[in-house]
Formats: sequence, structure tokens, C-alpha cells
Amino acid sequence: GGCQHRYNSAILITPSLASQCGFSMKTDHLGNAMIYASLQNCFAQNVEDHAFTTTLNLRLHGNQMDEDELYQVAETCQYTAWASREIVCDHNYMEVSVKRAAPHDYVLPNHLIPSKRPVEAGFRITTLVFFTPEERIMEVKEALNRGYGIANTPSRLVLRSPKTTPETYIQNVAGVPMTVLKTSTIFEKKWLAVQIDATAACPLELGCFLLHMGINGQRITTAEMAARQYSLIVSSTHIVIKIPIGAVGGYLKSNVQDNQYFTSYTVEPMVELHWIEDTTHEDTRYKVLFPITTPFLPQPLQVIDETVPNKQIFKLILGPFGTDVALINITFPSEVLSVAECNVRGFNVMELMSPNSSSKVFILQVPFMDPVVLQMTQNGFTLYRLQLTFGLLVLPELAPLSHTAHLEAKLVNIAPPKVFGGCDHQNFYVLVEHGRRSFQTMVGKQMLTPDLGQKYGFMDNGTHFSLVVPFSAPDVVFEAIEQASIRGRIDVIMRNPETNTEIKKFSMACNFHSTLTVCFPNGTMTALAVKLEAVPSLNTSRLTLRDPTCGPLFSNDRFAYFIFSGNTCGTTRKFLSNVMLYENEISLPDESDKSDESDESERKNESEEPVYECVSSNSKS
Ligand SMILES: *[C@@H]1O[C@H](CO)[C@@H](O)[C@H](O)[C@H]1NC(C)=O
Ligand SMILES: *[C@@H]1O[C@H](CO)[C@@H](O)[C@H](O)[C@H]1NC(C)=O
Ligand SMILES: *[C@@H]1O[C@H](CO)[C@@H](O)[C@H](O)[C@H]1NC(C)=O
Ligand SMILES: *[C@@H]1O[C@H](CO)[C@@H](O)[C@H](O)[C@H]1NC(C)=O
Ligand SMILES: *[C@@H]1O[C@H](CO)[C@@H](O)[C@H](O)[C@H]1NC(C)=O
Repeated sequence: GGCQHRYNSAILITPSLASQCGFSMKTDHLGNAMIYASLQNCFAQNVEDHAFTTTLNLRLHGNQMDEDELYQVAETCQYTAWASREIVCDHNYMEVSVKRAAPHDYVLPNHLIPSKRPVEAGFRITTLVFFTPEERIMEVKEALNRGYGIANTPSRLVLRSPKTTPETYIQNVAGVPMTVLKTSTIFEKKWLAVQIDATAACPLELGCFLLHMGINGQRITTAEMAARQYSLIVSSTHIVIKIPIGAVGGYLKSNVQDNQYFTSYTVEPMVELHWIEDTTHEDTRYKVLFPITTPFLPQPLQVIDETVPNKQIFKLILGPFGTDVALINITFPSEVLSVAECNVRGFNVMELMSPNSSSKVFILQVPFMDPVVLQMTQNGFTLYRLQLTFGLLVLPELAPLSHTAHLEAKLVNIAPPKVFGGCDHQNFYVLVEHGRRSFQTMVGKQMLTPDLGQKYGFMDNGTHFSLVVPFSAPDVVFEAIEQASIRGRIDVIMRNPETNTEIKKFSMACNFHSTLTVCFPNGTMTALAVKLEAVPSLNTSRLTLRDPTCGPLFSNDRFAYFIFSGNTCGTTRKFLSNVMLYENEISLPDESDKSDESDESERKNESEEPVYECVSSNSKS
């Protein structure tokens, strides 16, 4: 027996073993288990009273069908700031740990004193004396059987007692009722005996003198206390800690009755007291953990409408909720969407923890243009209406809760922009009547920046803007090649930068006269190949005449320009009645060494370039 043995096989921690060995457990509102272990618990591996490692095997019971799950958790804590006496008051046990003095201080009448040898050198704990206040003497074995924990560490003696035993008694200390455990422990070695006294007192209620406050067993600073709006008043008889219901550090447990939302708040403040006795200079540290849970109180739910009509999105905030509430679905008059479906639809459902409390809110955004929003156009404005019901669940009980909201927003109607346009033989001319609304303009694939505007002669007089886009501008796409002209098009899109929706989109196409082939009297010919919108992957620099060694003289991402003569580059001749017809062809060179099928089909598409004909009428020579 005894708590100092190391166990190789797992030991089940029953409630009585927990209080004997320094363990306590609580379950939070989500069903999570929180296990607290004393540093000096029976199973800790203690390295010179500086480092303590505790390994726990946790068995989670599954449903009838499932197998139990096993987890192992190991935690190592460093602790060096030992007071002469350390007391831990948890809800199921009290623990006192005292520094062992040099043995000669305590040796009972016996003259064979070994000089200043530490007590662990062969000393055994044999007897415990409890003062209740009457003396009760107990063999170590009997004390262990009665649920006490007794251990010897390199420099300390640890005694642990369940919260109430026949050997504890209640005493008022400075008006505060305390549970007191008062003991002497006798160590023996041959003819030597050593006695160490250890006394623990735990308040039945909070009291005494404060040094530190903590939450869930961990100290917090005064700055953290202020941020969490905790307050602390120390009077001559009481320490009063005020924690706002819902403050950070605790948690809310939710409950639903008749579709009404209730919450209770649980917080576990810790008070840590430390004092040094004037006469003996011994110091004592108390840690008192004091869990508090409020009854369930109605928590009215609020919908905060943060819609800015000009952004054309409803934005609403629903809350506050405990963290144990999940949003499952949203019911609109026409359909029910799960949260995942809402996000796919662009409703942007978010969960946000409150910065200064332990509650959270849900945030939802629904664009005015979504079909779940009802629209009504009246004289001069449009009314947008959103009606929705949130489907929520409280975990882990899976208790359903619903909350309905109605939102309305009004937007003054603005006439859509009007576009006027035309072409001459060189330029596109665009005039847009926009009526002072804010917008972004795209020309082709480019944003109309001030730089690009300067190139395109951009002018805006407040209600209208105009552009002049040359036929040769990179934002003009070529749609088709006709006899002696090229069909070019510009696309202009106006967007609302806030909603990123299109306000207006228009395209204008014009034929521009262009001589694609020219024949000179000396037999030189030129040809211009243009890249059409339908063949975006065409690399014009790879085009050739019939003779694949005849590439373009010049090429860019839109054109290739060729120069050749009647008897080069595979040019053929045909004699017609009174003219001579020179023919050549521009295509991608045959890459028959590439046998991949997809390559083949791509190449065929790309090689559908027109045949350029040069008709020369004075060509009898
Ligand atoms: C959180 O802060 C807000 C505003 O800053 C305040 O109205 C609210 O009372 C605070 N809540 C808590 C629990 O302190
Ligand atoms: C929506 O979620 C709630 C949970 O709060 C559930 O009771 C309800 O059946 C769900 N509705 C649909 C149509 O899935
Ligand atoms: C702006 O220009 C348009 C078109 O040229 C013209 O009709 C309109 O009157 C002008 N508006 C102002 C305020 O000058
Ligand atoms: C043929 O005439 C064109 C136009 O005058 C000239 O640019 C070109 O250099 C001439 N070619 C030859 C081979 O003389
Ligand atoms: C076009 O082809 C030339 C020659 O094969 C190559 O150098 C160039 O990188 C290609 N351009 C593109 C945009 O693929």
C-alpha cells in the first residue's frame, strides 16, 4: 500500500482513491471532463521536488455498439517556489505539504544523534497522531485504509485527507469557519524517532487574506481581472470577488423551455493566499477553488440589423449565445438551407466570440439580389424584405430552438446608365450617361485607370463620360476578317465596387477597312494575319507561309506581318482571263512528328487561317 509506489498496470481511480491521491474531476457544459491533479499526487513521477510528471490513461465508454476508446495523457509541471507549508483545498480533499527540517530538530529523547543527516536516510513513517483536538494515534497502514494519503518526497512530507473524516474538525479562524486537519507524523530508524507536524485548514467559505486570484486553478493578473471586469474588495473579515455573469473565464450552459432561451453561468474562481508568520518565518500558501453556478435565467435573443442599404446586402447579428449552441439551418419563406448551403450561396454565415464575455453571436449576410429577398418597387424606391427563421440546437442535449427575424431596407431607384456609341474608320466612340453613381469601369479585360483613361481620351463632366478607343488598341478584339475589313469589338463593363455586381455591360462591334494584302509592281507582296478572338491560343510568331521557312517579318500577340514575292515561299500562280492570281497560305507549320491526338486537333483548328490571294491585273509578263 501507500501512495508512493509506481504502478505498471493501470489503477482505476475511484472517488475515494481520487481524494486519497489528489485528483478531482468536473464536467463542463459541453460534457468535457476536466481533471485536476495535485502536483504531488500519488502517481506523479517526482524529480527532486522540481519536476512532476503525471500520466493518465483515460477510458471513454462508447455506446453499446462501440468499443471503448483509450487515451493516454502525460503532463509535466515544473514547480520550485515551494513555501514551507503548501495547502491545497479542493472540493473532495485537503492537502498539506511541509518542508522537512533537519532531523536533529525533531529527534525524540535519544542520545545517539547522527550529525545532520537527512531524514530520508533510512527513516520510515510508522505512526500518525491526529489531534481532533484530542489525540488519536494511528498506524500508517490503518491511516491508509481510512483514506489518508501519506508520502515522503526528497524534501517534503505530504499528507492528504478527504474533505471530511472523523479526524477533521471545524474551528473558527478570525471568524471564518475552517475544516482543520492537525497531525504529527513519526519517522523511525532503529533507535531514532523523528516527528514532523503538519496542519491544514480549509475554509468552509472564503475568508482570510488575499494575494492572488485565479480562474480554473490558474492565477490571473490584475490587468486581466480589469479587462474581464472582475472586482475585488478586501475587508477586515471578507474578500469579496465580483464576477459579472457571462464574463470571460467562465462559461454559459444553455437550456431551452417552450422555445425560450435560458443560460446559467459557471465560473470557478481560485483564491491563493500566502503569508509568512512573524515569529517562525514559516510561510503558508493556500489555494482554494470555489466553483459557482447560477440558476438558469432567461436570456432574451436580439437581432441587430447592421444593413447598409447602399451595399445592397442585409447584415444581421443574432445573439448572445453560449458556446454550446450550434446554428443548423435557416428557413426562408421559399426554402430551408443548411449553414453549408448558405455559405455556398454567398450568405457568409459566421460565428464570432464576444471579446469581453464568454458568449458568441452569429452573423449573416444576404445580398438584396438573392431570390430569398422579396422586392417591391414603389414610386421612386425599391423595398427589400427578408424574413428568416434560425434553426439552432443546444449541445450536447440536441434541444432545438428557433428564432425568427424580419428585416427591411429601402433603396432609392437610380436609372441604369445609358450608353451611346459609334465608329469612324479609326476609332470607337463611347458616351455613357451615368448620373453621378459610383462605379468602376472595365475596358476589355483592363480596369479603366487614370493612365488608361488618358490613352483613351477619357472625359467626365459629372453626369456623362466619354472614351475614344482606337481600332488598333489592345483592348479591341478581332471577331472576323472580311473581304477588305476586320470586324473589331470593344466590351465595356461598369461595376458597383461595394457589391461587386454589374451595373451595365455593353459591347460594340464595327468593321474597319483594312487592306490585308498588298501587291507591288516589282513582284513583292505583303500580307497581314490577325489573331481572332475565337483562337485565343494562337501564337502568331509561329505562323508561316506555305514554305515553313517563311515566317513573319514582324509579329506580336495580335498580328503577324509577312513579306514575300511571286516566286518564293511556295507562292503559286494561276492565269485567269486577264489577270494573274498569286496564291499563298498562312498557317501553323505541320508538326506531324507530334502524334498526340489532342495536339493534332488543336493544330487543325489553328491552321484554319484564311488563304491570302493577291490579284495582280498587270501581270502578263
Ligand atoms: C462588453 O463590452 C460591451 C461594450 O464595450 C459592454 O456593453 C458589455 O457590458 C460588456 N460585457 C461584459 C460581460 O462585460
Ligand atoms: C432545422 O434545424 C432544426 C434544429 O434546430 C431542426 O429541428 C429542423 O428539423 C431543421 N429543419 C430542416 C428542414 O431540416
Ligand atoms: C455632360 O456632357 C453631356 C454630353 O456631352 C451633356 O449632354 C451634358 O449636358 C453635360 N453635362 C454637364 C453638367 O455639363
Ligand atoms: C518592291 O517595291 C516595294 C515598294 O516600293 C519596296 O518596298 C521593296 O523593297 C521592293 N522590292 C524589291 C525587291 O525591290
Ligand atoms: C510563340 O512561339 C515562339 C517561337 O516558338 C516562342 O519563343 C514564344 O515563347 C511563343 N509565345 C507564346 C506566348 O507562347
